[in-house]
Amino acid sequence: MEKAKGNELTPRGAPKKGALHIAIARKKFVGSQGSLTALRDISLRIRPGEFVCIVGGSGCGKTTLLRILAGLETQYEGSVFLDGRRIAGPDRNRGMVFQEHRLLPWLTVRENVAFGLSRLSPAERSGKVQHYLDLVGLRSFERQYPHQLSGGMSQRVAIARALAGRPEVLLLDEPFASLDALTRIRMQAELLQVWQAERSTVVLVTHDIEEAVYLADQVVVMSPQPGTIRNVLSVDLSRPRERTNHQFNRIRRAVLDELLAHALA
Ligand SMILES: Nc1ncnc2c1ncn2[C@@H]1O[C@H](COP(=O)(O)OP(=O)(O)OP(=O)(O)O)[C@@H](O)[C@H]1O
Ligand SMILES: [Mg+2]
Repeated sequence: MEKAKGNELTPRGAPKKGALHIAIARKKFVGSQGSLTALRDISLRIRPGEFVCIVGGSGCGKTTLLRILAGLETQYEGSVFLDGRRIAGPDRNRGMVFQEHRLLPWLTVRENVAFGLSRLSPAERSGKVQHYLDLVGLRSFERQYPHQLSGGMSQRVAIARALAGRPEVLLLDEPFASLDALTRIRMQAELLQVWQAERSTVVLVTHDIEEAVYLADQVVVMSPQPGTIRNVLSVDLSRPRERTNHQFNRIRRAVLDELLAHALA
């Protein structure tokens, strides 16, 4: 057996980038109606290449947390580090898919996916755009404009755009919420394939417990007012996961119990 060089803790072939160290003491929003503590004592370490899902009721601060990780929200007490460097603003190393798709309406589907790839040659850019449009099943819509698409299709374009940037950290805020059940299951499987191929760290917010247990290495359960981490559950199941499997359902039940425990407290 070969002796590991460099970082002894990183197994050979494992991703070395994309480690998040989150230590948010408090995130407040101050408005004319007073102040609201959206997040308190959020402490989390995410390993390079890990897939983390965040679940929790509406208003418990999931989007706020993702926006902090994306560098879009910088006014808070505490710090967040990516590979030892403090996150101080948005960066192409972190790609975000928002709760609402946010495509640029004056650009076609193809141009939206190509947006942000200007550093590539035209041939490379074209190949990449085709690849990711194929992946989300929208190649034949490449010349359409966002207003000509359904909500779910727009969301798939937004996912293709984020993936095309090949970020070290992919942040997804309820990316599949507007998709029909079958497309959602297909996109979940495809996201896993992309993740396994690209080895990026993924943080995905969802309301769907089954989705979280299907995708994640770790499920972070949040509770509201103020948003805190209630528990972190490991999903120690090999992939691809079988949704009808006994172990799968046991973990799904455990996540649900955590959510209910707060709601019924
Ligand atoms: N820009 C803002 N100004 C003031 N308050 C805000 C702002 N953004 C979020 N909040 C408040 O912070 C809290 C957390 O909001 P956030 O959007 O992070 O919740 P969420 O968990 O993503 O909810 P949902 O599941 O409905 O998307 C809420 O009480 C919300 O009203
Ligand atoms: Mg949200």
